[in-house]
Amino acid sequence: MKKTAAITGLDVGTTKVCAVVAERTGSGVRVLGAGISPSSGIRKGTVVNMEAASDAIAKAVREAELSSGVRIASVTAGISGGHVTGFHSAGAIGIQGREIREEDRERAVEAAGTVYIPLDREVLHVLPTEFSLDGQEGILDPVGMSGVRLEAKVHIITAGAAPLRNLTKCCERAGLQVGATVFQPVASARAVLTDDEREAGVVLVDIGGGTTDIAFFRDGCLRNISVIGVGGNHLTNDIAVGLKVTIAEAERIKKTKGAAFESGADRDAGIEITLPDEQLASISRGDLISIMQPRCEEMIQLVQEEIAKFRGADGAACGVVLTGGASLLGGFRRLAASMLGLPARIGNPAGIGGRRSLVEGPPYATGIGLTMPEHYEEEHVDTYAAAMAGLAGKVKQRVSDFFRFSDLSHSYKKEGGTLCLKSRK
Ligand SMILES: Nc1ncnc2c1ncn2[C@@H]1O[C@H](COP(=O)(O)OP(=O)(O)OP(=O)(O)O)[C@@H](O)[C@H]1O
Ligand SMILES: [Mg+2]
Repeated sequence: MKKTAAITGLDVGTTKVCAVVAERTGSGVRVLGAGISPSSGIRKGTVVNMEAASDAIAKAVREAELSSGVRIASVTAGISGGHVTGFHSAGAIGIQGREIREEDRERAVEAAGTVYIPLDREVLHVLPTEFSLDGQEGILDPVGMSGVRLEAKVHIITAGAAPLRNLTKCCERAGLQVGATVFQPVASARAVLTDDEREAGVVLVDIGGGTTDIAFFRDGCLRNISVIGVGGNHLTNDIAVGLKVTIAEAERIKKTKGAAFESGADRDAGIEITLPDEQLASISRGDLISIMQPRCEEMIQLVQEEIAKFRGADGAACGVVLTGGASLLGGFRRLAASMLGLPARIGNPAGIGGRRSLVEGPPYATGIGLTMPEHYEEEHVDTYAAAMAGLAGKVKQRVSDFFRFSDLSHSYKKEGGTLCLKSRK
């Protein structure tokens, strides 16, 4: 197989495992190939059966290798689950009245990221949100300004050490090295949000099979996150129980005939369903939607409760961007917009070239986003690509360069429960 400057994003979801192989272009990524396998051993985004999960990963990755012709040694893995949480922190450094340089900005962010982290947690991301200089708040980039005291505010995202380790072990069992681990909505956001939305304020809601991940962006920065343990699979289960059909049949009915709310127009239209004993039966669409609508409303209400906890998110100028497979449910966008009182659109991955038909639509936002850089990280693409082409031992260090300013998490080392700074030079 040929060696190439390719990056593999591995989305280990509750419903599917998806490996996307892509190379970076000036404006986004070019998909070289992809492999998708039904998920197994994952519940609500977290590994519950190592063997089943690593088999599903191996299957998706082998398929991606065949599809792209690239030998995959290392992946950027996405992680989610109720164990992922975020909190704010701040830290300051002295500047002595001179002009602030890039190194000063980094030092301030490092100071903000130096916090106590319990031994059972690991840092995924340290994301700067804003700076203040001698008391002047709301500075997005202090480089070039002069002052005495530079304070950085950051959002730190941590994951449970055990779920993170288990995901890494599953990848290793499948013969893969994990170069970096990215919180799934951070990756999805790269694929579906525009810079303008991040700037003006937007809430990304990634509704998968087992989890709904929420991330609020404003002024170009991620400000809050939340993970809720509900997703499209709950709708499938409700239909299976309500109509007394198999999960597979409930999934089919949901995708082909389901809707988030009753529009009235085809309430009495008949839907043919197959019962577990292979007998055919008929129900009305109204019956189906009366099962689905309360669950959809509950999901949106839970999202609303989380959004209410994020300062400023309930008035986000660009509203809500829905992505993930369950966002495809008919009427879900309209129901969300009306319940949340915010504009809502479906987030389809953008900025993709090459064989994009392999990974089209909201279910692939995370997988594609895992191969994408932040817009200001272009300069590091070649270095990272070189690591992917075989310099496996260097991957971790190179990835830390890659996340240079936007995310300093890889420059930290945990010792005895405290997050310690590790020399980056
Ligand atoms: N056209 C559709 N209409 C309704 N639901 C859909 C449609 N397509 C996919 N889904 C649902 O989307 C869910 C899967 O979404 P996705 O692939 O984003 O999940 P995942 O990434 O595997 O899971 P998670 O992110 O929760 O770990 C399933 O519940 C599936 O039934
Ligand atoms: Mg997902």
